[in-house]
Amino acid sequence: MSILIKGGRVIDPANKIDAVLDILIEDDKISGVAKNIKTHAHTIIDAAGKIVSPGIIDMHVHLRQPGREDKETVATATAAAAKGGVTTVLAMPNTNPAMDCAESIALLKGIISKSAKVNVLICGTITKGRQGKELSDIAALKKSGAIAISDDGSSVDSDELMLEAFKKAKQSGILTICHSEDKKLSGKGVINLGFNSTRLGLRGISNESEYKRIARDIELAEKAQAPVHIAHVSCQESVEIIVKARKKGIKVTCETAPHYFSLTDDELLGYDTNMKMNPPLRSKSDLAAIREGLKDGAIDAIASDHAPHTENEKDIEFERAEFGVVGLETELAVSVTELISSKLLDWGKLIEKLSLNPARILGIDKGTLSEGKIADIVVISPEEEWQVTKDGLLSKSKNCAFLGRTLKGAVDYTICNGKIVYKR
Ligand code: DOR
Ligand code: ZN
Repeated sequence: MSILIKGGRVIDPANKIDAVLDILIEDDKISGVAKNIKTHAHTIIDAAGKIVSPGIIDMHVHLRQPGREDKETVATATAAAAKGGVTTVLAMPNTNPAMDCAESIALLKGIISKSAKVNVLICGTITKGRQGKELSDIAALKKSGAIAISDDGSSVDSDELMLEAFKKAKQSGILTICHSEDKKLSGKGVINLGFNSTRLGLRGISNESEYKRIARDIELAEKAQAPVHIAHVSCQESVEIIVKARKKGIKVTCETAPHYFSLTDDELLGYDTNMKMNPPLRSKSDLAAIREGLKDGAIDAIASDHAPHTENEKDIEFERAEFGVVGLETELAVSVTELISSKLLDWGKLIEKLSLNPARILGIDKGTLSEGKIADIVVISPEEEWQVTKDGLLSKSKNCAFLGRTLKGAVDYTICNGKIVYKR
């Protein structure tokens, strides 16, 4: 089978390409990137006026399967991913059972091979059951196919255990991803600590609970000489600490999520639980620092932290509602609306953060449009506006922070492993 994508603006930061070109896909691979490719393809996509980019690699996604199929499944999440232009997701391990052993990973792999519409990579846990008490067999996780480890949702409190984890990760050649949160500081907080938490009478989560733990995680990674990736950076001090560490030569990378560069804790004034996530929406100055960090390169990647929850878990009193928002279907459009339209980033830089950098951080051979590579490609209408509605979302859960908003940038086609997996 062959697909010819004709006359789109091809943006491939790895090869420094930003030009109007054709792309030929044969079977699962890119077989040509050139002007005016003349061939008889089975399918021709007219991409005039459209952006043609490597597929999005979202390195922070909660698929919820196994265990919470009422929230989301591999099938529904990957359908949502395809609609959002995402061709690869990294599945977070806070499932039930947690991804803490070879058997659980084999179980998830079986589900993926039956029902995934895009590539799914697996993140194992740092500790057994994500309890922070005893290390998982990290070498066994790596052997069974996990490409990173994280206790996402929680942080490992014990310094000794976390240092040991970094050492084991280093030995196994696996990346450690940190959900950096000091629970002794964030406690029972539900929104950002600040004027709004006082005004609303809700318990606050300080910046300190995040950045102090990031500083600790980086220090331990340095001791173990292991790379570390910091998940969902939300505040100014965190960015500063990461920049400083990098200047010292420490191998630290980080991601933020679209809600942290587009929304502030002012959104909480209506007690909307779709604005409740962990870390929480922060202040205006934090939002400015996150945007600046994206612009100056301090922040490497954008990931959704797609965290589906049922209506029963969200449509309740604010303090009891679950933390988290879905984001696979809106991350590209929120990025276009907030970062491209305001000229904070150009397209090349945005695609680096959504695709090339995540590939490099994860050490996977993706994120480019080089000839010979697997064809994971997204075709985008950059000026197309659309409204986010519950009915429009393919994700099983509808807890989206952008419901009702009009966003710019629509996915026309998502091609994964050479096959069209979504068409608008
Ligand atoms: O908001 C969040 N939701 N933050 C996390 O760290 C975990 C996630 C979830 O799994 O629901
Ligand atoms: Zn997390």
